[in-house]
Amino acid sequence: MANQWFETVAEAQRRAKRRLPKSVYGALIAGSERGWTVEDNTRAYAELGFAPHVAGLQGERDLSTTVMGQPLSMPVMISPTGVQAVHPDGEVAVARAAAARGITMGLSSFASKSVEEVAAASPQTFFQMYWVGSRDVLVQRMERARKAGAVGLIMTLDWSFSNGRDWGSPAIPEKVNLKAALQFGPEVALRPQWLATWLRSGAIPDLTTPNLTPPGGTAPTFFGAYGEWMGTPLPTWDDVAWLREQWGGPFMLKGVMRVDDAHRAVDAGCTAISVSNHGGNNLDGTPAPVRALPAIAKAVGHEVEVVTDGGIRRGSDVVKALALGAKAAMIGRAYLWGLAANGQAGVENVLDILRSGIDSAVLGLGHRDVKDLRPEDVVVPANWPRVLGTADQKDVV
Ligand SMILES: Cc1cc2nc3c(=O)[nH]c(=O)nc-3n(C[C@H](O)[C@H](O)[C@H](O)COP(=O)(O)O)c2cc1C
Repeated sequence: MANQWFETVAEAQRRAKRRLPKSVYGALIAGSERGWTVEDNTRAYAELGFAPHVAGLQGERDLSTTVMGQPLSMPVMISPTGVQAVHPDGEVAVARAAAARGITMGLSSFASKSVEEVAAASPQTFFQMYWVGSRDVLVQRMERARKAGAVGLIMTLDWSFSNGRDWGSPAIPEKVNLKAALQFGPEVALRPQWLATWLRSGAIPDLTTPNLTPPGGTAPTFFGAYGEWMGTPLPTWDDVAWLREQWGGPFMLKGVMRVDDAHRAVDAGCTAISVSNHGGNNLDGTPAPVRALPAIAKAVGHEVEVVTDGGIRRGSDVVKALALGAKAAMIGRAYLWGLAANGQAGVENVLDILRSGIDSAVLGLGHRDVKDLRPEDVVVPANWPRVLGTADQKDVV
């Protein structure tokens, strides 16, 4: 069998593209509108440089940290994604890889595997919720996750129901039935390896959301769940504080891009915030999170744990985020591409690439501990970053 190991996340992406049917790959690439934000997420990391040392470097380095009370062997976390047809083992494979590499697993409430299966595979599972349904329904879903063993809750609030992509949205069937088989047959036929993986598993891609199943009912389809979400009144800051109180344990608010919102998240009692723009899938025109990160970390980093996600493709990106104030970085597409390329082993491969890249950057910067990374370690362009969420939106540097 050909060597399945790959040496960069870029190669994992190439393999995912070769292996997945066009629509499935398109759903992973995602992005919204013109794609400005999704592009900026990676461009912003490319604009940042390093200021390395040459001698007096540290022979041994500690990459470990903690977020929301969970130990991490390196400052990387699995960000929740609604994965559907990438791989038969889906989120369970990702959870196993996360557990094998000593990091946390974020499970989307729009995921294709149940929180029971995923928490059994990873003792460090955070369950992610959107504001979908009534308060009673939210509590019922949250309690189910708690009972299953979830050790933290992630509330994702940055969603504005934008739709349409200039490059075209992939078709997603409501159900995998004969009609879908006929519609998608031609593109699947071009991806025999992907098809063989599913055939071997004895399953067919399941486009339902088992974590949103009502008690005694059946799992809604993805579109059914999306419809419930669109019909739910939008949450207020009081709602956020209420949910945080109902959960009572470690609680992350994901999607914060502004200093004023970060202060409100602190007031609502959040344990952590993720400076994030939903991987560029939400309001196009929102800048890369790493541009907003320094000001947010400066404003609230002493009161709440600040992590970030969006555009992380290499270990050095993680190190740049840490230098600018994050405790850890969460990844989305990078592990989805690894999952598509080689299942659990592919996700582990991605995590190993990130670990070695983090270690290499920490070595070059002369640190012994990732927690010692500082803004002086990175070269920031003069017009960068902007403060988002103050009256005058002025530059901070
Ligand atoms: C295909 C896809 C599905 C996603 N689904 C969710 C989700 O269900 N819940 C959520 O909080 N974020 C979701 N996200 C956003 C990710 O958690 C994360 O913020 C983003 O992917 C980070 O950017 P990156 O992909 O560049 O690493 C999704 C992202 C992608 C690409």
